Amino acid sequence: MTIPDSTTDVPGTASDRPHVWQSTWRPAEGARSIDLRYLERDPRTTHRPYFDPVLRLAAGHRRFDEKLRLLDVGCANGAFVRHVLEQQPRWDVSGIDVLPELVDAASAAVPGAHFSVADICAPSSLPSERFDVVTALTIPSHFDTLDVWLPNLLGLLAPGGTAVLYGPLNPSPVDLICRLRYAQEDGNGNVNGNGDGEWLPGWNVISQQTYDSFLKGRARSWACHYLPVADLGYPAGDPADGLSSRVVPTSDGQRLGNASGLTYHMACLEIHL
Ligand SMILES: C[S@@+](CC[C@H](N)C(=O)[O-])C[C@H]1O[C@@H](n2cnc3c(N)ncnc32)[C@H](O)[C@@H]1O
Repeated sequence: MTIPDSTTDVPGTASDRPHVWQSTWRPAEGARSIDLRYLERDPRTTHRPYFDPVLRLAAGHRRFDEKLRLLDVGCANGAFVRHVLEQQPRWDVSGIDVLPELVDAASAAVPGAHFSVADICAPSSLPSERFDVVTALTIPSHFDTLDVWLPNLLGLLAPGGTAVLYGPLNPSPVDLICRLRYAQEDGNGNVNGNGDGEWLPGWNVISQQTYDSFLKGRARSWACHYLPVADLGYPAGDPADGLSSRVVPTSDGQRLGNASGLTYHMACLEIHL
């Protein structure tokens, strides 16, 4: 099926016609300006309840006093890196993010860790060293295929290393790729001061089956851990930001969702090389 190009035969500028399809999808791999909102959050006081389950999986059955090298991909303001250092002061902890502003803020706020600008889709930008643990929290849903980022992430692991991914995952064998945007009030996409009307990636829900197919032959073992969303610290009511996740009752219990109507399970995927 081809999507009709509604911009070719409708008169007027795009901002006159906020109800029509105005753009091709924005590439999924790049930075999103909305992630600059992490600059407004102090990593020293930002604790997300998923940090602890991720860290437990990251530590695995290793000895408590073992000194591990951990890299957090898509570290934003460094809140998870800070949490790891607090819980595991002996670990050597690093973070990478594609947005230089966030890397600068994380470096200033979280001394004792190493931060650098890097794009998980661009191998030449990535650190040359290898890590015992690589984490990627709420960033897997940014990409349209596993091929553009997951091989690079696994390539950052030392032999015997562990990756822990956290984000939307579909237990049913269906993959969802989507873009969301703030609906436009004034033709410029300025709703509550958010966004510029661009179609944003970030809410893809890839199936467990697609991960299984991808990981066969590339990893020694892996396991999905679906987390009870009510315990993850997301609001149960509607937050002011329509794209923010909140807990939504569904016929099979509770999932996360947002004002788009999309709902999704959240899971940790633990991968061992
Ligand atoms: C939704 S935020 C999640 C932040 C943090 N991991 C957390 O759980 O709170 C996604 C982060 O991934 C970063 N990011 C997006 N695409 C990236 C890429 N290709 N390479 C590295 N970082 C990326 C964004 O800049 C943003 O800081």
